[in-house]
Amino acid sequence: MRVVGLDLGGTKIAAGVFDGERLLSKVVLPTPKEGGRAVVEALAEAAKRAEAEAGVEAQAIGLGTPGPLDFRQGVIRFTPNIPGLEDFPIQRLLEEATGKPVYLENDANAAALAEHHLGAAKGERSSLYLTVSTGIGGGVVLWGRVLRGERGQGGELGHMTLLPGGPACGCGLEGCLEALAAGRALEREAAYAFQRPVSTQELFRLFQEGDPKARRILLQGARYVGVGLASLVKAFDPGAVVVGGGLALNAPEAYWQALEEAFRHYLEGWERPPLRKALLGGEAGLLGAALTAFLEVRDGGG
Ligand code: BGC
Ligand code: NA
Ligand code: ZN
Repeated sequence: MRVVGLDLGGTKIAAGVFDGERLLSKVVLPTPKEGGRAVVEALAEAAKRAEAEAGVEAQAIGLGTPGPLDFRQGVIRFTPNIPGLEDFPIQRLLEEATGKPVYLENDANAAALAEHHLGAAKGERSSLYLTVSTGIGGGVVLWGRVLRGERGQGGELGHMTLLPGGPACGCGLEGCLEALAAGRALEREAAYAFQRPVSTQELFRLFQEGDPKARRILLQGARYVGVGLASLVKAFDPGAVVVGGGLALNAPEAYWQALEEAFRHYLEGWERPPLRKALLGGEAGLLGAALTAFLEVRDGGG
């Protein structure tokens, strides 16, 4: 069986044909700024090119997208990073544009599924995944299946509240893990501390140079991630915890030490699952979107 995976991001769309084990092709297109139908057209085009590059026809499409979903309606409830997709019938329109069944999944749920089956949690029965990048996404995999929830908002781990009344989050609430520890949050803290815009990359550089403010900001973010994960372990008791995402994977070793220290501290007296770095890097979302469709077609969603 062949399926197409589509990973919709704020700046680019990645597409690839997948055979259940590996990608047979990979195509990357920019995400149209106009949102809505333009995004659907670009997704359909990316899927077509991925099929052409692999020289095969796929029977279904898996689409990974940021934002909590509503499976019953086939819509994304909100995506702060991609305008014009809110409550937009993306699933139906993409099915019409491609003539293939489309299965929607949250981007981080998809990545969690990929790390579970093909990456850092391979061989586990259950795993928990967190991606720390511009935003924070998560996924919970139980017995090989990702927890989608009753509506499609299961695994939105970045929006767990860690500090009531804390900094504003893109979701409209305050004090979410994402608002405290994602790239955007660290950049906000850095802009405040340095009184000028500071990118995550620059924050890493300042840290390497021994800047105490950069150190405080970066390690504080890492601690919040560790604290959040420790709470999640109490909810799910997974076989392994996997952390990925551009920010975490590019962060200095001290970031990981602070994260792990907080994780251990808030699990003192509990049995602790192994904490691992993600293995699939930037490919996790694409592989996971493809796996979503693959598992749906093979097992009929069961
Ligand atoms: C969104 C999630 C998404 C994550 C990573 C968050 O802001 O709410 O749905 O998984 O970013 O893209
Ligand atoms: Na998720
Ligand atoms: Zn939030």
